[in-house]
Amino acid sequence: MDDDALRAAIAGHLWFHTIELRPGVVTPGRKTPEIMAVEEELFLGPLPLAGMSVLDIGAWNGGFTIAALRRGAARVLATDSYTWDHPHFRGRETFDLACAAAGVAPEARRLDPMDLPAELEPFDLVLFLGVFYHLRNPVPVMDALGRLARHACIVETHQDALEEVRPAMVFYPWAELAGDATNWWGPNPPLMTALLLQAGFTRIRYRAHPINGPARGIYAAFKPEAPDALLAGYGEGWAVLA
Ligand SMILES: C[S@@+](CC[C@H](N)C(=O)[O-])C[C@H]1O[C@@H](n2cnc3c(N)ncnc32)[C@H](O)[C@@H]1O
Repeated sequence: MDDDALRAAIAGHLWFHTIELRPGVVTPGRKTPEIMAVEEELFLGPLPLAGMSVLDIGAWNGGFTIAALRRGAARVLATDSYTWDHPHFRGRETFDLACAAAGVAPEARRLDPMDLPAELEPFDLVLFLGVFYHLRNPVPVMDALGRLARHACIVETHQDALEEVRPAMVFYPWAELAGDATNWWGPNPPLMTALLLQAGFTRIRYRAHPINGPARGIYAAFKPEAPDALLAGYGEGWAVLA
C-alpha cells in the first residue's frame, strides 16, 4: 500500500492512539502525539525491553504494542475484546492495519481481560494500561496479572478518592465518569498498592501522570524474581511504594 492509499485507509477508521506508521503517515488518535510520547517513555522507557516478551492487555489500536516491538521486544501478544468487537470502533481492523503498515508482526488474540485463560503462559512484562477502571470486577484480574507477569507489570489507571488514606475506590454505577458507562471504578494509590502486593509483586514504583495529574496513576510493579537491573531506570520522578 502506498502512502496515499494508507492515508485513505486510516481516514476510514476511529483512532485512540496517535501512531506514526511510516515517516509522515500518522493516525489521528484521540491521545495526542504529546500524550503518546510521554506515555510511551513512562511505560516502556525505563525498561530494558530488548529480547523481552510482552503481553499488552487492552491493546486497542496497538500503539504500545508497536512501540514495544520498535523498542526491541522479542515477542508481543496483544489482546483486547471490547473495542476490537465494537461495530463503532472496529478496533481489531485498526490494530491489524496499524501493525501491517508499521511492518511489525505481533501476535493477537481476542481475549476479554475478565476471561484471561488459565493456560496463558507468563510474559516478562505485562502492560495493563487504561483498562482497570473499565472492568466491573477488576480485583481478580489484578491477581491474574501476578500470575501472567514473570518479572514486571505496568498498570495505568484513572484514580479517585485521593484524599482517603485507606485503600479505597469509588464506584460509578452509571456514566458519571466522563459520560462513559464503561467506566466503573476510581481506585486510590493505597488500594492499587495493596492489590499489586496481594498479586505477588514486591517492589512498586509510582508516579502521577505528568499531563493528567494524579487522576491518572502509573505503577511499575516487580516480582521477587525480577533482576534488580529492571528497576534501574526508575529513578527521579518515581516514588517507592514498596
Ligand atoms: C482507554 S482504552 C486503553 C487502550 C490502551 N491500553 C491505552 O492505554 O492507550 C481501554 C481499553 O479497555 C478495553 N475495555 C473497555 N471496556 C471494557 C470492558 N467493559 N471489558 C473489557 N475491556 C474493556 C477497551 O477495549 C480498550 O482497549
